[in-house]
Amino acid sequence: MAMIEVSNLKKSFGKLDVLKQLTFTVNKNDVVAVIGPSGSGKSTMLRSLVHLEQIDAGSISVVGEYLVKDGVYPRLPEIKQITSKMGMVFQHFNLFPHLTVQENLEIAPKLVKKASASELRQRSTELLGKIGLTNRAKAYPANLSGGQKQRVAIARALMMDPEILLFDEPTSALDPELTGEVLQVMKDLAEEQMTMIVVTHEMGFAKEVANRVIFMDDGEIVESGHPSEIFTNPQFDRTKVFLNRSF
Ligand SMILES: Nc1ncnc2c1ncn2[C@@H]1O[C@H](COP(=O)(O)OP(=O)(O)OP(=O)(O)O)[C@@H](O)[C@H]1O
Ligand SMILES: [Mg+2]
Repeated sequence: MAMIEVSNLKKSFGKLDVLKQLTFTVNKNDVVAVIGPSGSGKSTMLRSLVHLEQIDAGSISVVGEYLVKDGVYPRLPEIKQITSKMGMVFQHFNLFPHLTVQENLEIAPKLVKKASASELRQRSTELLGKIGLTNRAKAYPANLSGGQKQRVAIARALMMDPEILLFDEPTSALDPELTGEVLQVMKDLAEEQMTMIVVTHEMGFAKEVANRVIFMDDGEIVESGHPSEIFTNPQFDRTKVFLNRSF
């Protein structure tokens, strides 16, 4: 079943064509790793999926509903309803500094969903256990390590019960010794069949966890396929050059 279908997506910033003609599908339970050089349009692509960027042409459908069809968006309430099926995790966590860990988890669903405080507390407590931070529930973000902050950001996204999780370089801001704990949480989610799109420089993660790799360069998808194909037998010179630099 298609969770996300993108066809002929185009996006420019002024004269710069950042996304040229993207077409791809993400199926249920897919873990798609998106790789490519800096400036190739990976973040802009992800941000377009959650309507943090407005595209110029093409279509995006999410679990069977059009977020945008042939460049035309529906009204804002409909856009919000469609993007609420996706959770996004950013490189720089973006936690609320004045709220505790547990409050960070509960704030968005408290405002958006009509769940009771006790339901939210139960769910946030469960998720804190899942990310191994039960004992930091009352801590403030400033007193957490980068890896802990990012695990909180993942749990916060999960509080909204997304059907798809998007990650934009979730470990790039972390010291190398802290990336493992974040990748482990993502790996657990993949094993629980969460559908995920992960923009990453972690080729090991892409190889081990993704079932598909999309290589982007200069606003285009150059090639995509199973990691065993892309990493061992890339078809295009652009992919070969990038991979040679990344290992
Ligand atoms: N708001 C913006 N205004 C103008 N240009 C932008 C904007 N956002 C991105 N760009 C440009 O679009 C291109 C693609 O940027 P994007 O951030 O999507 O690339 P990326 O593949 O995520 O790169 P990186 O690996 O460095 O994160 C770059 O040339 C960038 O400078
Ligand atoms: Mg980026």
